[in-house]
Amino acid sequence: MLRFLTAGESHGPCLMAIIEGLPAGLQVDVEQINQHLARRQRGYGRGHRMNIEQDRVELLAGVLYGKTTGAPLALRIENKDWKNWSERWASGDLPRLTVPRPGHADYAGMVKYGLEDARLVLERASARETTARVAVGAVARQLLAAFGVELGSYVEQIGDVRADLSDPSDDTLEAVERRRWELAEASDVRCPDPDAAERMRAAVDAARRSKDSLGGVFVVSACGVPVGLGSHVHWDRRLDARLALAMMSIPAVKGVEIGEAFANAGLPGTRVHDDLYPDGKGGVLRRTNRAGGTEGGMSNGAPLRVRAAIKPIPTTGTPHCSVDLLSGEAAEPQYQRSDICVVPAAAVVGEAMLAWTLAEALVEKLGGDSLQEMMR
Ligand SMILES: Cc1cc2nc3c(=O)[nH]c(=O)nc-3n(C[C@H](O)[C@H](O)[C@H](O)COP(=O)(O)O)c2cc1C
Repeated sequence: MLRFLTAGESHGPCLMAIIEGLPAGLQVDVEQINQHLARRQRGYGRGHRMNIEQDRVELLAGVLYGKTTGAPLALRIENKDWKNWSERWASGDLPRLTVPRPGHADYAGMVKYGLEDARLVLERASARETTARVAVGAVARQLLAAFGVELGSYVEQIGDVRADLSDPSDDTLEAVERRRWELAEASDVRCPDPDAAERMRAAVDAARRSKDSLGGVFVVSACGVPVGLGSHVHWDRRLDARLALAMMSIPAVKGVEIGEAFANAGLPGTRVHDDLYPDGKGGVLRRTNRAGGTEGGMSNGAPLRVRAAIKPIPTTGTPHCSVDLLSGEAAEPQYQRSDICVVPAAAVVGEAMLAWTLAEALVEKLGGDSLQEMMR
């Protein structure tokens, strides 16, 4: 019922997205979308490209007098770097890239589409595309906010540096999660643990010096999610499955965990499942959230917590071994300008995908052509 498409190349004129199925009457705050675009651009370890771009969204359709009309919403984000590339594209004097870069889409994309130039693959495979997704996610989170759902993210690990996120307080699960979001927002590595953040920066600096790259782990979470998004009745309606798809669709994400899945796998059941207690108002409360907010493929009212593992980005200053597909000889790939570590930025993209998945599930559950109808 709610869907989106993106288009655009990394060094093309712009990135675009169309969202279809939004209810009419949703106030769209353009500045809020721009704030999320800026958050995606930040983060210790980013490369030179992010100094060129100052991502700002333009709404081209679907919003009149600041509110959605129910028509498809069209978004556009200009690529400032386009002006450095447009003449080179037009003159056709860009050298072909015939040596695929290991870890990138280059090799499989060249073989699959019968292309002799990896540039035709990498222009679309580039994670620049996630800019459009962050804009789409920012609209989705405005819909969620109308229903009291809030989202955030934080970085748990960069390289082999792990944050200590234990929280001895008696605060609610939601309060603990919100505190982590706030601390992360003030950190250029999005890490709520300041000691670990310091060591993460040092690890990124060391990787830069040794012409290497680093991966890591981020967490995205949501509070205020109503019980019953998704469903146990069919495989493709399970919310946990849809969250895994959404996170895994982010370039370089290679592992997804809901709650404490991998730690839980090694524990007896009595130490894993989150017991229910009466909340004194006729409802229930939980003191633990090892399940990460889903049971039976449905949201269960506890904060949703999804962890994603990011591989070290494939472009490294130290060349990898490869093959020139034109000559069949061993060759080194041409170095393309690159980030060193993208875990903080990927966390912001993860928030966007979490927001989208929840908005989709909310629209499915509530139906309605207008926000008013959804509210009813
Ligand atoms: C926000 C973000 C920025 C990225 N920037 C780079 C980069 O500068 N250099 C690079 O080699 N990979 C970068 N990546 C990772 C590649 O896009 C990704 O590894 C590649 O497209 C292959 O896809 P796969 O890792 O999912 O197999 C970035 C990923 C994200 C999420």
